[in-house]
Amino acid sequence: MSKSRAPRRRISEQEDEFEEELIRKLSSEERPAPQFDLEDIEGVGRITAEKLRKSGYVTLKDVAFASVRELAEVIGSEERAKSIILSAQKLLGGGRHFITAKEYYEQRRGISYISTGCRALDELLEGGVETKAVTEFIGEFGAGKTQLCHQLCVMVQLPPEKGGLSAGAIYIDTEGTFRPERIIQIARHRGLDPEEALQNVIYARAYNSDHQMLLVDEAKKVIEERPIRLVVVDSLVSHFRAEYPGRELLATRQQKLNRHVHQLLSLADIYDVAVVVTNQVVASPDVFWGNPLKPAGGN
Ligand SMILES: Nc1ncnc2c1ncn2[C@@H]1O[C@H](COP(=O)(O)OP(=O)(O)OP(=O)(O)O)[C@@H](O)[C@H]1O
Ligand SMILES: [Mg+2]
Repeated sequence: MSKSRAPRRRISEQEDEFEEELIRKLSSEERPAPQFDLEDIEGVGRITAEKLRKSGYVTLKDVAFASVRELAEVIGSEERAKSIILSAQKLLGGGRHFITAKEYYEQRRGISYISTGCRALDELLEGGVETKAVTEFIGEFGAGKTQLCHQLCVMVQLPPEKGGLSAGAIYIDTEGTFRPERIIQIARHRGLDPEEALQNVIYARAYNSDHQMLLVDEAKKVIEERPIRLVVVDSLVSHFRAEYPGRELLATRQQKLNRHVHQLLSLADIYDVAVVVTNQVVASPDVFWGNPLKPAGGN
């Protein structure tokens, strides 16, 4: 009897151990992916990391998805840039460069939508505002662009069955027209706790175009730390328009604006967030037929 009991106990002990091991494994899988600093990338020391940060490469993903030419401009050598990018990619994704078409299909299906809260507009946008993309709302003065941005900051917080992504928003305000009171009103209307809704909107006022671009770099850090799925820039062009007026500065303005848009596109793509920007249009009296409206700050 004792003989038959002994091995049974051992088996149950083994089962306990197995169960404990399984729980350990599962809980370690549930832990968030480790956060890396730039200094963790092979070949990046403190000085290089500082240089990179100053040029807008603040996270591991920034370096992993950078182009060799851009990074070489910062650190002075194309060879080093190549090897740093490869090390960063290795750290990020287990060193894989190719994925199967099926994996790519799954990734593309990973696009999520945020409802605008307005059915007609959602239909126009084919489901709402997309993550991994930059959506531009163009309209005349008082058309409702800023209101829509406020609304989206609340909508993104709703659960998916109500059109949101259960996440927060970042609001980059260039014109000083953000109103937390409006967030409270909309949150109440949508059945959210107004206090919580306010906590989930991370706000920054951009004082000039350089500051605006710097804030996009800062936004990446915020997104790495908390669940953010929407970044609003209201408005995209007002500072650029004011700082580079007239035809003679148009090329410079456009060049800088292109850099900003590129920055936003990669933010959307890399961090799987929806980027929403606004752009005012003005009536153009010299157009006699066709659409008499044109974007105020270039395209
Ligand atoms: N609390 C509110 N409830 C309803 N409507 C509001 C509220 N606050 C402002 N509005 C109105 O919403 C309209 C849209 O204003 P909004 O500021 O969104 O326009 P805009 O497109 O951002 O204009 P601009 O190009 O000047 O920035 C305005 O007519 C404004 O009076
Ligand atoms: Mg506005």
